[in-house]
Amino acid sequence: MLEGKLVNLRVMEKEDLPLLAEWFNKPEVLGEYNTLRQVSRTEMEKDFEKGTLEITDFIIEKKDGSEIGFICHFTLVHPAGKHLEIGYSLIPSERGKGYCTEAVRIMVDYLFLSRDTMRIQACTDTRNLASHKVLEKAGFKKEGTLRRYLFIRGELRDACSYSVIREEWKEPKILTRTA
Ligand SMILES: CC(C)(COP(=O)(O)OP(=O)(O)OC[C@H]1O[C@@H](n2cnc3c(N)ncnc32)[C@H](O)[C@@H]1OP(=O)(O)O)[C@@H](O)C(=O)NCCC(=O)NCCS
Repeated sequence: MLEGKLVNLRVMEKEDLPLLAEWFNKPEVLGEYNTLRQVSRTEMEKDFEKGTLEITDFIIEKKDGSEIGFICHFTLVHPAGKHLEIGYSLIPSERGKGYCTEAVRIMVDYLFLSRDTMRIQACTDTRNLASHKVLEKAGFKKEGTLRRYLFIRGELRDACSYSVIREEWKEPKILTRTA
């Protein structure tokens, strides 16, 4: 368990797949700036058991244990590049309370503490202002625009590329306890 002040991140177990499938299949959870898709629980279970997914999901929990969303990290390019990308979503009723910003800060600490990575990146629809704000508050810098990069709701949209590199991060901000 990765513990913050507002939320904790708990690595996803097989038992969490029904919840994740429920969230993935509700368009309002992924929001208007994510690809619309439907995934069956069976398909998710198969992928999880094969262990071939290059993606690790964490459930975002409030301090009372209620599950409010997910954050994931994945490798998009060849691992020799040592880049990791992150993605996240919160259920609509829990947005605007600072939870995702803290989840991203925890994830950045965790990845720089646990992986030999130089750079953590995120791509978000140019119109997704809440996501831009989360990344900027968590120390990411906007690098530029990736033209027609994301296929969302029937069209290819421009995306903003954000990153934080190890030299900028310097030291953990939230995961500072060792015991
Ligand atoms: C993006 C998302 C994860 C943000 O989560 P959150 O917990 O609400 O984020 P936080 O509360 O930590 O911070 C949101 C910030 O954006 C601001 N914000 C929210 N909507 C905004 C908008 N339309 N325009 C400008 N700023 C906005 C908030 O005011 C807040 O900033 P503040 O703390 O300075 O007031 C959430 O909106 C979500 O789940 N959206 C759907 C899925 C999604 O788009 N995921 C990202 C894909 S890249």
